[in-house]
Amino acid sequence: MVKICCIGAGYVGGPTMAIIALKCPSIEVAVVDISVSRISAWNSDQLPIYEPGLDEVVKQCRGKNLFFSTDVEKHVYEADIVFVSVNTPTKTRGLGAGKAADLTYWESAARMIADVSKSDKIVVEKSTVPVKTAEAIEKILTHNSKGIKYQILSNPEFLAEGTAIQDLLKPDRVLIGGRETSAGSKAVQTLKEVYAHWVPEDRILTTNLWSAELSKLAANAFLAQRISSVNAMSALCEATGADVSQVSFAVGKDSRIGPKFLNASVGFGGSCFQKDILNLVYICECNGLPEVAEYWKQVIKINDYQKSRFVNRIVSSMFNTVANKKIAILGFAFKKDTGDTRETPAIDVCKGLIGDKAQLSIYDPQVTEDQIERDLSMNKFDWDHPVHLQPASPSTTGGKKVQVVWDAYEAAKDAHGICILTEWDEFRKLDFQKIYESMQKPAFIFDGRSIIDVNKLRKIGFIVYSIGKPLDTWIKDLPAAA
Ligand code: NAD
Ligand code: UDX
Repeated sequence: MVKICCIGAGYVGGPTMAIIALKCPSIEVAVVDISVSRISAWNSDQLPIYEPGLDEVVKQCRGKNLFFSTDVEKHVYEADIVFVSVNTPTKTRGLGAGKAADLTYWESAARMIADVSKSDKIVVEKSTVPVKTAEAIEKILTHNSKGIKYQILSNPEFLAEGTAIQDLLKPDRVLIGGRETSAGSKAVQTLKEVYAHWVPEDRILTTNLWSAELSKLAANAFLAQRISSVNAMSALCEATGADVSQVSFAVGKDSRIGPKFLNASVGFGGSCFQKDILNLVYICECNGLPEVAEYWKQVIKINDYQKSRFVNRIVSSMFNTVANKKIAILGFAFKKDTGDTRETPAIDVCKGLIGDKAQLSIYDPQVTEDQIERDLSMNKFDWDHPVHLQPASPSTTGGKKVQVVWDAYEAAKDAHGICILTEWDEFRKLDFQKIYESMQKPAFIFDGRSIIDVNKLRKIGFIVYSIGKPLDTWIKDLPAAA
């Protein structure tokens, strides 16, 4: 029986290995992690991540050919193929801080593999890493090899959160990069056979190592670039009276462009896009390509612009101040169908509003109060400012600047405005008449995800702002529109 071990039981390691176990009953899969709480959760009924369809897959395989363990060394020692799916965040200090990928976790995983291995192994880069990482990993492994042979493969993951199970079951492609030697080709073939259990062969692409590593960064950069492009257009739509949904529909009808990933929004979030583009920017700079670096950096700049533009629009629409006004935040996760808040635009929007002394009431169906508090705790707030304006009812905010509630109606009660920051399906079905009646007047709604029916809400009485849509006369006529 082939044995696979995956180091890192996160958003990628967990679901990816669960699908391999489901589709390859003849393979034993162990997912290991240094985090005891994460592994306990994987072994419980309350999985550590929310991902539609994941529970069923894990329940079907766990204890049969899928195991979650903190005994990292034992499972690495026993494995024929070791996937490394540890986190590779942006460096926060030292050389390349704020841009380069932090490979501390990766390096420590590689050193541990070198320490415990007693037999030849295929080591698979599943994490997103800078191009040429395989060369560095090869050096770590071979310098400590004790005669053991390693083949490094790059097998980047293209799943998106919220649709991970479907993406893994029916991937557009699986990419495997390896050394162009006979041992390298053999290793590529071994990994290809794992995926061939359920992925059609023409969707399994094989390339050299550097192409595979770079393709992952390139794919994320291209995807994020589409969002920044349509978001840049959304600002121009608001200035001219064009409607960004109509523009993106018309643009996407061109088969060379295609309709997907053209939704204007309050900005992209998630653990990957910003991190991977910054990483790409750093690699370009290190390779003496400042113009190329600047080109990709612009994608991030537009994303930051879009978030601050949204905050400015809220503040300027509400008489240029949100101080002590209750604002309901609907959605905190970076997209629907996930509880992940990494780099969510909600953090910047909430911090911007708190900076203007708003009182927030936040509701997200999958994000806990603890998580929201952690995410927002980076700022020092001015808690002592006296209340001059009509405050939102203290019973609903508890006198705090941020309150987390478990119901959208509760969040909106007595609020001056509503911000929609995540496109959860349940927000489309809300009774906005009921919400309007429970709010302070004039009642504002700011849709950062284009999910509401603007005309319907205007008829109810709301002053509506929806990104990239023609502006309400109320907002258009303001002296200092954002
Ligand atoms: P994550 O933070 O959810 O999981 C990483 C796990 O690795 C953590 O549980 C951590 O405890 C563990 N870990 C770190 N060092 C370890 C070590 N030395 N030994 C054992 N365990 C260790 O991260 P993620 O979202 O799963 O991302 C993992 C990688 O995949 C990143 O490089 C990311 O860029 C890439 N990726 C992520 C996504 C996504 O949607 N999240 C998609 C594609 C690729
Ligand atoms: C992304 C890539 O899609 C995936 O291939 C890669 O493996 C990891 O990074 P993820 O970050 O999980 O996946 O989600 P994605 O669906 O790409 O959304 C990222 C952000 O872009 C979200 O905040 C989303 O709301 C936003 N987005 C997406 C838009 O604003 N408009 C769109 O049209 C699409």
